[in-house]
Amino acid sequence: MKDLKARIEKLKRDFDKALSGVKDEKSLQEVRNIYLSRKRGAVKLLFEELKALKPEKRAQAGQLVNSLKKHVVAKVSRLKVKLAASKPGVRARKGDLTLPGVRGYWGAPHPVVLFQQKIENIFIAMGFSIEEGPEIETDYYNFEALNFPPHHPARDDWDTLYISDDLLLRTHTSPVQIRAMERRKPPIRIIVPGKVYRRETPDPTHLPMFYQVEGLAVDKGITFADLKGTLEHFLKTLFYEKLKIRFRPSFFPFTEPSAEVDIECLVCKGKNEQCRVCGGSGWKEILGSGMVDPQVLKNVNIDPEQYSGFAFGMGIERTAMFAYQIPDMRYFFENDLRFNRQFSIK
Ligand code: PHE
Repeated sequence: MKDLKARIEKLKRDFDKALSGVKDEKSLQEVRNIYLSRKRGAVKLLFEELKALKPEKRAQAGQLVNSLKKHVVAKVSRLKVKLAASKPGVRARKGDLTLPGVRGYWGAPHPVVLFQQKIENIFIAMGFSIEEGPEIETDYYNFEALNFPPHHPARDDWDTLYISDDLLLRTHTSPVQIRAMERRKPPIRIIVPGKVYRRETPDPTHLPMFYQVEGLAVDKGITFADLKGTLEHFLKTLFYEKLKIRFRPSFFPFTEPSAEVDIECLVCKGKNEQCRVCGGSGWKEILGSGMVDPQVLKNVNIDPEQYSGFAFGMGIERTAMFAYQIPDMRYFFENDLRFNRQFSIK
């Protein structure tokens, strides 16, 4: 037994020495095999020898051989990990794994999209559905069918970007009213969110491209009271229940009568004559609206004696600016993530 112990100690020392010269996985495998090879490895041969021993000696001798086996297995696997980690490519991932990670680059829904969804949800709850239309329009849909006579000065209110004599970038979402009424019969209840274009130089309150939401309801017996009730409910849900609202007479070629809708200034509530947001008036214009002009209904073959309707239009950025006190419309399209991300946090 003493003899066996000494042999095993020597084997361990030899193994340690051999291992210290190992530089790669291949030579590691070679050293390992000298001791652990299943056929001719030192450990295997020692176990073979044990069979010749008397049972009472065998157990103790077995422990000695096992200690050699454990010694070899542990050192081989430790060195294997070390060699693998030092391979090129893997090295980059080394380092202190307890340090906080590098944050990934994450996006956020655009504030215009979020605000548009807020508006859509209020109208969907009232039974409206969402309609879309082309951004490149004909003169007919953008103006003519909406009761703007050719060369009428009212067209000058919309600084139109023309593509050809007949094609233009839509200046408002109202042409989708016409497309919707051509396609289907009343009752109609739709809202139309989308981009519109006007010949404007960008400044804090103007952009050549911006978003509008159009609304249209056509049915038997629709009155101005329906227009008022719908818009009041919409604005009070969008802002708050006690919001002050006023309807002011106005003019649009495609509605009669027409009204612009103002809401109280959210910033000064009418209490600051020097308020920069409302100019001291206490009111902020937010919507254009009116009863669908009978001539417009005729243009789409809907009988104005039987049917009536209301329509409205609103700028999305303008309203979002007012709601969130954003001082410059250009922020929406500068793609500054520090701005964009602020709105995704509910
Ligand atoms: N289209 C009008 C605009 O762009 C808004 C509007 C829509 C007015 C519907 C009345 C009815 O200013």
